[in-house]
Amino acid sequence: MSVTINTIKDSKNKRKIVALTAYDYSTAKVLDDAGVDIILVGDSLAQVALGYQSTLSITMEEMLHHAKAVLRGVKSSLVVADMPFLSYQVSTKEAMRNAGKFLQLGAHAVKLEGASRSIIRTIEKMNTSGIPVLGHIGFTPQSVNALGGNRVQGKTSEAAKKLLSQAKDLQSAGCFALVIELVPSEVAALITESLDIPTIGIGAGADCDGQILVTDDLVGKFTDFKPSFVRRYAEVGKDTGNAVRNFIYDVQNRKYPQINESFYLSEAEAERLTEIRK
Ligand code: KIV
Repeated sequence: MSVTINTIKDSKNKRKIVALTAYDYSTAKVLDDAGVDIILVGDSLAQVALGYQSTLSITMEEMLHHAKAVLRGVKSSLVVADMPFLSYQVSTKEAMRNAGKFLQLGAHAVKLEGASRSIIRTIEKMNTSGIPVLGHIGFTPQSVNALGGNRVQGKTSEAAKKLLSQAKDLQSAGCFALVIELVPSEVAALITESLDIPTIGIGAGADCDGQILVTDDLVGKFTDFKPSFVRRYAEVGKDTGNAVRNFIYDVQNRKYPQINESFYLSEAEAERLTEIRK
């Protein structure tokens, strides 16, 4: 059965939501087959798949290109597309047009970072126009410069109060769920118990209604750095390196390809070829 935004909303207090990122067809297919609830075409693909310094560099065109690939691999999971930097902050009108592009491809929802007054207004408009929105508070990577780096947010009771108020505003604006990133566990727990919509944590402790990670972190494919909250379940980066080194050895030592990895002429054609050689 396909996951819908109602499946996600109904999960609150019943079962934990599992969300992961995908940027391409084959990863999306694996996640979908494994039963992941939400597949996020995250703008983390800027750093993880495209090698940019931050998520600020990725464009709508690049996000759409990857969203298309992901959507081709998904049958059941809910696909959420991250709206990239400046695709929704300039005006509600522009945000609507850009969000619409993801939905026209087949994405089920979009994710926007932040909870400023203008973002709330934009989310309200999206909500009344049939565009489901996943909110995102705490550390919001598109504001990395304004936040002074990758820092845990909500570390004082004043800051926690502000996060709680943002979470409530996003719920009132119509978000169907909320990502909480890099926030102390107690604060994420307070937000989670104060909301009717589910929270999905990343570096926000065990009490959120679900968890999200970057798949390339989870499988050890992205190795530039490893956030402390990440648990690696595989070593795809190391395994790929070993596989490539073995391939180099086999090619250089004439161990690849073998007979069963090659094609051959029929006997008659092979004989004709011998004639040509003469
Ligand atoms: O872009 C991203 O990958 C995210 C996270 C919440 C995983 O926004």
